[in-house]
Amino acid sequence: MGKLFAEEKTSQEMTKKVKEWWNANPFTYLMDNKEIVPDWAFFRNIDRKIIKWMPWAQKGYPLLSNVIDYSQLKGKKVLDIAVGTGWTTENLVRAGAHVTAIDLTPQAVELTKKRLELNHVTAEQVMVADAQELPFADATFDYVLAFGCLMHMPNTQKAIDEIYRVLKPGGRSAAMMYYKHSLHWWYYIYLGKGILRGKLLSMTPQELSNRYTDGAYEKGNQLTKFYSKKEIHELFKKFSDCHIEIYDTTTPVDTFPHRYLPLGSFLPKQIKQWIVCYLGQTIWVDVRK
Ligand SMILES: C[S@@+](CC[C@H](N)C(=O)[O-])C[C@H]1O[C@@H](n2cnc3c(N)ncnc32)[C@H](O)[C@@H]1O
Repeated sequence: MGKLFAEEKTSQEMTKKVKEWWNANPFTYLMDNKEIVPDWAFFRNIDRKIIKWMPWAQKGYPLLSNVIDYSQLKGKKVLDIAVGTGWTTENLVRAGAHVTAIDLTPQAVELTKKRLELNHVTAEQVMVADAQELPFADATFDYVLAFGCLMHMPNTQKAIDEIYRVLKPGGRSAAMMYYKHSLHWWYYIYLGKGILRGKLLSMTPQELSNRYTDGAYEKGNQLTKFYSKKEIHELFKKFSDCHIEIYDTTTPVDTFPHRYLPLGSFLPKQIKQWIVCYLGQTIWVDVRK
């Protein structure tokens, strides 16, 4: 009991730190949060980056159309978790879904509201909430999206159990998380920074991961976790169906062994694409309750 209480307290303390960090450094994909001017061009610039950095996810609008079947979401109740600047929310609303959008930070909620307002589209609710303790009744939603967030919270299992709870029977959920057995983790972070640059002498693997993923230009974020496929299956084991795909751009291969010696870029495009299907950084999880 004592141990459980201590774990809960640590988890709450870490959630507070995560909240403070993301509130000060909202995820703009623009690598420079210093001047956030949330106008129409700012939001469209974010969309452009997403199209460029995740070519596997869509060819254009709607964003994520290669991994989300928008035709199934019209008129459905959708929960969008950890919305950042609201690009997923905008696309879900445009598809005709009744969207509830949440994020841990007031900053993300304000940015998302602004994006929707500028584009004259409306979500059911956009609110501050913690994915680890969802303020919704059991079996409320038909679909839950958790894009790029479950790996940044201390109690990822609790958040996944919450998604299960708020989904209707037969409802679906999708999540974007980071893949551990990737070039990004083992080669560029663990070997490159950890071993060759000696960072493992003073940092744990978890600290390395926090430092060299999201917010690397701001000296790293508070918490970023990478998962194996086995660990993902374990986390989502309550669900009846769990489908996993690995995705990435060819950049990790192009810049192999080093960005100043990009020998990998000479490989045929199909081989590079084949390699990142196994060793890419992004893990896309599709589950059904
Ligand atoms: C990498 S950003 C991704 C944002 C957005 N999904 C996107 O792709 O632009 C991570 C987001 O997760 C949010 N977040 C972290 N922990 C959370 C939690 N426990 N509940 C809800 N949101 C959380 C952060 O505030 C931040 O907006």
